[in-house]
Amino acid sequence: MADDKKTAKLSFGDKELELPMMSPTAGPDVIDIRKLYAQGDVFTYDPGFTSTAATDSSITFIDGDKGELLHRGYPIDQLAEKSHFLEVCYLLLYGELPSATELEDFESRVTNHTMLHEQMVYFYRGFRRDAHPMAIMTGVVGAMSAFYHDSTDINDPWQREVASIRLIAKMPTIAAWAYKFSIGQPFIYPRNDLDYASNFLRMCFAVPAEDYEVNPILSRAMDRIFTLHADHEQNASTSTVRLASSSGANPFACIAAGIACLWGPAHGGANQACLEMLREIGTPDRIPEFIARAKDKDDPFRLMGFGHRVYKNFDPRARVMKQSADEVLDLLGVENNPTLQVAKVLEQAAIDDPYFAERKLYPNVDFYSGIILDAMGFPTSMFTPIFALARTVGWISQWKEMIEDPAMKIGRPRQLYTGAPMRDYVDVENR
Ligand code: CMC
Repeated sequence: MADDKKTAKLSFGDKELELPMMSPTAGPDVIDIRKLYAQGDVFTYDPGFTSTAATDSSITFIDGDKGELLHRGYPIDQLAEKSHFLEVCYLLLYGELPSATELEDFESRVTNHTMLHEQMVYFYRGFRRDAHPMAIMTGVVGAMSAFYHDSTDINDPWQREVASIRLIAKMPTIAAWAYKFSIGQPFIYPRNDLDYASNFLRMCFAVPAEDYEVNPILSRAMDRIFTLHADHEQNASTSTVRLASSSGANPFACIAAGIACLWGPAHGGANQACLEMLREIGTPDRIPEFIARAKDKDDPFRLMGFGHRVYKNFDPRARVMKQSADEVLDLLGVENNPTLQVAKVLEQAAIDDPYFAERKLYPNVDFYSGIILDAMGFPTSMFTPIFALARTVGWISQWKEMIEDPAMKIGRPRQLYTGAPMRDYVDVENR
């Protein structure tokens, strides 16, 4: 990775430094500033990490200008079309596509870990009925470290492997139960004869009085939503998981931290916010009013599902999602869905508007996902939990990569201090 030939020269004050550079397999070169403070007595300043590579990674690559997303080198649209979620999980975790036997073995390991410790039922019952499912998921996943002591030692490769499988396997049960609890229905236990997506749909929509016949087209669409959300390199929640794990915290605590970060409307919470926005717009004639608000710097309103820190072109996941939305709504006989109509007109209106074009703001993954999930029968509050369920494999793959790296260090950013310089304490009567 290090490139002996390339260096960067940095001069400031009376100092002249020559910094080594590193070349990735794809994407821009990086300047290695690890010795900058030792040699130059300065820090770099980059709030929001817009120009800082916090790690090296071989899992996922995004070319934001081209609108490309690769997992272990494979383009997301090929994976969404030809692969399926558990195969993508294997690819992300272990680096290569599995052979037929490896896939069968992996699927069987995941399938055999889908149940939750029965005592966790009482943990759910401690929440208020109106708790947001993301709040429940954050709590329940964090609590896994209290239930699965035999997979919390991060220095034991076997325990790391078991924790990884447990998290991927149990997340659909955890998310489905968060939903069931919020609507006052009994928990539905997993069924291991069903595939990953079908099992999740059944746990959400079956009731003890009546079973749920899983529609294979809906199950395929669900699986594709999982695949499209599986990983996205060093985004906010993944960086949160990495930072939390850098202290040596156990995997369940770290994934709970990732879920908490994902919840925000600028990140995973955007899918819920986007559908709510589309519904609020209601009819295409109100679109100009909302576009004007999104452009008004005195109005905090933003077009949800639009824009991305990395993509300065179409989010490749949004293209697949749009096609899926058409298929699912067609299947369900709701092709004239008013929200989908508003979404399509709004997308075109924003693309044609110079404000969005100049800033390279295009639809992201969240623009169409909510429409599909809504048509499947999920309430908006379940959109972000479904994102968290799917992203779990990405978080774990990045966590594993970090723990297995012998050069791993605790994450400890620096700061540009702007507070008061040292001063003497003043007794209260003299203030
Ligand atoms: N609507 C209106 N203006 C926008 C939007 C938007 N959705 N997004 C960015 N802008 C403007 C922003 O006001 C700024 O304008 P100016 O240069 O005049 O000040 C410019 O575009 C650049 O924006 P930024 O805030 O500096 O960009 P960022 O990289 O910090 O933010 C973002 C990225 C995703 C937080 C932002 O685009 C946003 O808030 N989008 C809406 C929320 C959303 O859809 N989030 C989901 C992201 S994809 C799922 C995931 O990975 O979590």
